[in-house]
Amino acid sequence: MTSKRKSIKTAFSTGTGTGAFRPVLVTGASRGIGADTARAFARRGHPVVVTARDTEELKDVAASIQSSGGTAHVMPADLAGTAKAKRFVDKLLRAHPDLCCVVLNAGLAVHGPVVDRDPASFMDEFDVNYFAPVTIARFVAAHWQGQSSQAAAARRNSIIAVSSLTATVPFPGHANYGASKAALNQLLRNLRVELASSGSGQGIHVGIVLPGYTETAMTAELESLLPGSSPVFIAESVWDCFERRLDEVVPGLDNKVAAGLFRFFPSVSDKILKAGAGFLVPRPGKKSQA
Ligand SMILES: NC(=O)c1ccc[n+]([C@@H]2O[C@H](COP(=O)([O-])OP(=O)(O)OC[C@H]3O[C@@H](n4cnc5c(N)ncnc54)[C@H](OP(=O)(O)O)[C@@H]3O)[C@@H](O)[C@H]2O)c1
Repeated sequence: MTSKRKSIKTAFSTGTGTGAFRPVLVTGASRGIGADTARAFARRGHPVVVTARDTEELKDVAASIQSSGGTAHVMPADLAGTAKAKRFVDKLLRAHPDLCCVVLNAGLAVHGPVVDRDPASFMDEFDVNYFAPVTIARFVAAHWQGQSSQAAAARRNSIIAVSSLTATVPFPGHANYGASKAALNQLLRNLRVELASSGSGQGIHVGIVLPGYTETAMTAELESLLPGSSPVFIAESVWDCFERRLDEVVPGLDNKVAAGLFRFFPSVSDKILKAGAGFLVPRPGKKSQA
């Protein structure tokens, strides 16, 4: 009861001042963490704009939201690279100029050791994991900055990226993926400071969520001795990041410990990983060899 009351109060505080709930964009919302994140925001009263390439999957997610009393708008798009993301964000802001939050969740992971990888796949990951979210973030931030600074501050706008623990912790077989997420984190940390120190950017929250191994289609071909998080758990962390305007969230105690270990004792944790990578890190398993 208490948490429900808290959520409703917060959702109203992100409204227009008239009590209306403002729309939230979730990219990569056709399945996995993105679909559950869209449901989490819709459950709290926000209309959600769901995007990904697969229109049918998006329609299914939208139908599940609507059948629970929420509102969802389907806006399919391929978000691979700057040009496509720019076309999408223009269309988005024309249709939903009162947007209050973008959740930059769409992601691509290509598994494989660095030396075996097709070089073109390095750029594929950067297009989806770095260039597209950066493009959406900067044009949405500019849109909000174009509103009067006081109004923008009062409206509590939010940019949230679903990044990855692999941005900070080595994850053999996912080096370029982790590098693309690390680049995204660094860009957003700078954007956060730039916005906070500019009059018109104040009031724009920039949050980064860094999930560890999560059981979704992205990791379906991996085997792990350690259990993964559920996409619903990560979606609740994204909501928490939005609601409490947190800078960075590492969901789960195990992932917090791993992040802390690598941050404060990098040489020790490197040794542990080298010695134990075979069982500590999810890796291609029987499913992918079948
Ligand atoms: N699963 C994990 O262990 C894990 C851990 C840490 C972080 N993450 C991050 O969490 C986010 C969600 O991952 P997930 O595990 O839910 O993966 P997922 O089930 O594979 O979902 C990925 C989503 O991104 C969309 N997408 C991929 N390429 C796209 C493109 N070119 N244009 C537009 N949309 C595209 C996919 O939709 P379409 O294919 O229909 O386009 C799908 O909706 C990603 O950013 C991922 O890096 C995942």
